[in-house]
Amino acid sequence: MQRRDAAALAEHARAVVLEQARSAIAERGAFRIALAGGSTPRVLYRMLAASEAEFARWHVYFGDERAVPPEHDDSNYRMAREAWLGSGLVPQTQVHRMRGELGAGSAAAQYERELVESFGSREVPRFDLVLLGMGADGHTASLFPGTTALVETRLFVASTWVEKLSANRITLTLRTLNAARQALFLVAGADKAPALREVLHAREDGPHLPAALVRPWEGALMWLVDSAAASALAST
Ligand code: 6PG
Repeated sequence: MQRRDAAALAEHARAVVLEQARSAIAERGAFRIALAGGSTPRVLYRMLAASEAEFARWHVYFGDERAVPPEHDDSNYRMAREAWLGSGLVPQTQVHRMRGELGAGSAAAQYERELVESFGSREVPRFDLVLLGMGADGHTASLFPGTTALVETRLFVASTWVEKLSANRITLTLRTLNAARQALFLVAGADKAPALREVLHAREDGPHLPAALVRPWEGALMWLVDSAAASALAST
């Protein structure tokens, strides 16, 4: 776990993403990344838009989405398009958005099919990198405490009602997140400090906040956090 201020957080994350991309392209000829939504990654996406990389070999997916159309203010795709993907650096046919406008259930089913088709396998898709944020309640992607998506063990993508938001969401499931070659959490803000402490100090016998359940089975897990989010951790 590394403490950074917000700008340094994004810069470090950019270096990690670009290195993971170089490695994936060298080994497998392509780089498959799932993006986080929310606000924290916006600076990182802007930095990627200004970076040199073999974007023609990148395939960009989403870790979760709101059940809204792509032009909606709440759309995670819209945020990433405005910050980076609208530049066209990644071929549009290689940007796989969750179609929130279909409604959560249909969008999740469609995305499951799209993952199978684009990964060319019915096995659980192994992303080279999954970018994740964390909410103050310890949720990640749209895996919120107490929701059905959190306990989904068969599907790669699930739709889920989130009571606290009174909204439906679409999200990659833990089965998919934990199949990743690397999971990278970007967490910033003092409001995240209590949850971050609980997640990083989680006891084996639980209970666990959703973010604490992301432990790639055969992959790396990295947390990049700013000093405010780390303020409740023992000083290291
Ligand atoms: C979403 C995100 C969500 C986000 C956290 C943190 O759709 O909202 O995927 O999991 O990463 O809520 O959001 P912030 O970066 O805005 O704090």
